Amino acid sequence: MTSFKDLGLVNSRELFKKAMAGKYAIPAFNFNNMEQMQAIVQACVEAKSPVILQVSSGARKYANQTLLRYMAQGAVEYAKELGANVPIVLHLDHGDTLDLCKSCIDYGFSSVMIDGSHHPYADNVAITAAVVEYAHKYDVTVEGELGVLAGVEDEVSAEHHTYTQPEEVEDFLKKTGVDSLAISIGTSHGANKFRPEQCTRGADGVLIPPPLRFDILEAIEKRIPGFPIVLHGASSVPQASVATINKYGGALKDAVGIPEEQLRRAATSAVCKINIDSDGRLAMTAAVREVFATKPAEFDPRKYLGPARDSLKELYKHKIVNVLGSNNRF
Ligand code: G3H
Ligand code: 13P
Ligand code: ZN
Repeated sequence: MTSFKDLGLVNSRELFKKAMAGKYAIPAFNFNNMEQMQAIVQACVEAKSPVILQVSSGARKYANQTLLRYMAQGAVEYAKELGANVPIVLHLDHGDTLDLCKSCIDYGFSSVMIDGSHHPYADNVAITAAVVEYAHKYDVTVEGELGVLAGVEDEVSAEHHTYTQPEEVEDFLKKTGVDSLAISIGTSHGANKFRPEQCTRGADGVLIPPPLRFDILEAIEKRIPGFPIVLHGASSVPQASVATINKYGGALKDAVGIPEEQLRRAATSAVCKINIDSDGRLAMTAAVREVFATKPAEFDPRKYLGPARDSLKELYKHKIVNVLGSNNRF
């Protein structure tokens, strides 16, 4: 058993309290490799932002949980070396079983998500409560989820989106004891968040997605004032990255995300954690494709992963300063 405290990590409790009071959101960036981790830490040091480093179960399989744990510990030390004691949370993203959550807690994670949102309500309550019971023994914070995020692949349209039902949230919090709650108000994962027929088209042909359901967010906030809310699927899918990828041989069609102004608005509400993964993937892919296309003789991985890392760092700084407002917060 390794406590997250021995690794220099923090749980999310204090960070969310401050984010709620200061009307900003903590960035939750997914990572699987060294360049992503370096870019996140560099951006957070320069912008003075706390950060949640999150690891999906797929990332854990890809990179190995022991390596990820030491990378998170390394991130704490690396930040100090760069001149700032950045508060860093190591979080399990979309944990789906009690065993997985327990294993991450035992390995030094300071926060876990148990995503029971695809289960019937009573089962979601039961699995979430079991994770909370274990996690709280070790002061690890827990994120639960109510409502299902739509995915284009699920053939769900915005109308059939399983939005969070505000009337369920108080009961869920009371029965589970979670520390934060992920909700569904119209975001979804990936780079194709909406089908073209769900969007309108701007004069330039660009897809304009339907707005987030701020009415549902407000109804939830009224029922559980001051409780930290989490927004998944919050990539904006920058069209410049999509265009670069496609220019250099990519084939991303109808990629569309959540407009940043809407995320900015969410960050000033009870939304204390905003999850961004796909935008990082797009930034990295665009940079790597550009090097491959414009410098075809290059074969040193540092020559394409280096520019990818620089591009990621700029993206993260932009999100922190212009979207989440988490800069200068420690
Ligand atoms: O919510 C999902 C995250 O973007 C992680 O994705 O399962 O492909 O690592 P992944
Ligand atoms: P995006 O795919 O919009 O980046 O969402 C990431 C996420 O929610 C991770 O849990
Ligand atoms: Zn997610």
